[in-house]
Amino acid sequence: MKTVATTPFAGQKPGTSGLRKKVSVFIQPHYLENFVQAVFDSIGDTTGKTLVVGGDGRYYNRTAIQTILRMAAANGFAKVMVGRGGILSTPAASCVIRKYQTFGGIILSASHNPGGPTEDFGIKYNIPAGGPAPESVTEAIYARTQVISSYQIIEGADLDIDHLGRHSLGAMVVEVFDPVADYAELMETLFDFDAIRAAFRSGFRMKFDAMHAVTGPYAVEILEKRLGAHMGTVMHGEPLEDFGGGHPDPNLVHAHDLVHILTSPNAPDFGAASDGDGDRNMVMGRNFYVTPSDSLAVLAANATLCPGYAKGLAGIARSMPTSAAADRVAAKLGIPAWETPTGWKFFGTLLDAGKATLCGEESFGTGSDHVREKDGLWAVLMWLNILAKRKGESVADIVRAHWAEYGRNVYSRHDYEGIDSAAADALMAHLRGLSLKGQRLGGFTVALNDDFAYTDPVDGSVSTKQGIRVVFTDGSRIVFRLSGTGTEGATLRVYIERYEPDTAKHHLDPQVALADLITIARDLAEIEARTGRNEPTVIT
Ligand code: G1P
Ligand code: ZN
Repeated sequence: MKTVATTPFAGQKPGTSGLRKKVSVFIQPHYLENFVQAVFDSIGDTTGKTLVVGGDGRYYNRTAIQTILRMAAANGFAKVMVGRGGILSTPAASCVIRKYQTFGGIILSASHNPGGPTEDFGIKYNIPAGGPAPESVTEAIYARTQVISSYQIIEGADLDIDHLGRHSLGAMVVEVFDPVADYAELMETLFDFDAIRAAFRSGFRMKFDAMHAVTGPYAVEILEKRLGAHMGTVMHGEPLEDFGGGHPDPNLVHAHDLVHILTSPNAPDFGAASDGDGDRNMVMGRNFYVTPSDSLAVLAANATLCPGYAKGLAGIARSMPTSAAADRVAAKLGIPAWETPTGWKFFGTLLDAGKATLCGEESFGTGSDHVREKDGLWAVLMWLNILAKRKGESVADIVRAHWAEYGRNVYSRHDYEGIDSAAADALMAHLRGLSLKGQRLGGFTVALNDDFAYTDPVDGSVSTKQGIRVVFTDGSRIVFRLSGTGTEGATLRVYIERYEPDTAKHHLDPQVALADLITIARDLAEIEARTGRNEPTVIT
């Protein structure tokens, strides 16, 4: 065992979801080690504890795991459970942490960001409840990184993490386990696998795009092996260190192969994609895209069709920029609707306290109290369960019927990626300084504008500056926030929403239906003048 002297690195501050940097930053000597030691120093006594470790398989995953194993052994852990091949999807990590009641886990992922030697890497600590560390913990970790002077590590050869089995590392046991089995078993308790199997047997067809990221092995096991979807249902199923050069973000732009298949003449009934670490999902019907906000609402409205949710929901939580479609379902069900800041970590207390059962974000994240992360395949299985039970209805039929019942929350997000950070900060400061209440903008009157602040209803913790909201008297909204997950420049996200009760207008393209609000948003934030951009880079 060695104590290695080190000095702090600036900027080891976890963002919306862990510490994300370019690989070139992570491979600097001591960079990863400093952060891992700061985690171990910040989470209480690690002696005799068990830790879960795994990642999305991206470049540097394997190297980082070997380092973390050696450091865990030197920091007194009794056991580390590692997913075979270093693979562990984010929701599966949460599942395993909870099932084996470990002292949390370390997940190596930069989620939907590209991977490879010149791309991104990331690391985050999840607490024993299975969810992302709350801000109090991430702040303690960051504070520790800024004063760190040494770390503990043991020397030794790399362990074989590609085969199931046990190894010793000093006094610590390393158990290489099947990353899919526990997760697949959990899914079988939540959904009606018999009904889904029967649907596939009677000709229901789907395509799942794993985007050469972590969900490939999970999807093959669950969809093809356990549910009987025909072989080849899962495309891009092999996890690759650079995701095959793609951008593993399941949206209409990056999941283009899937979109192409679902909009082709002989399209299957259902299509879905997941991201780098398996916590995001995109859902499509034949020629029909379901926004994540609508998906959450439809899943909530139909949840009792699934065995795991047959007793009903305790509440529904969504992030503030997510559309209010789910709130309408909650109102009808007579259950609470919670509005939290962006980032899954804010759902943890509500789930732990039994105040919410389903949660979702507009950023292709949906999940429930079965784990403490959003869960891509879970959402896909829930849709499959609902489709199997509402036999004969297509994805489009189900969503249109939902709109007819509840009205449509027409919604879109415009991202301006890779803009100058100083310009982005100035734009936000400009918005923060506006006082708009009562003003007419276009045909709309401003009811309130503020910077969203949140007091956690369970633990009372307060989070401020969570996004600029401009809410109009008719309930329409524009939200502006800067991304907290990027590694280059800044990304401005503009979220636009309007409620449309008139069924005759539900077919309209959101970009058309929201055109007035989109113009107001651009003018208000002076986007073009301040960023030099006259078009967003990604529209979802
Ligand atoms: C983005 C999403 C957010 C999500 C996070 C992690 O964060 O907007 O909803 O929780 O990724 O997947 P952002 O880059 O906006 O900070
Ligand atoms: Zn992710």
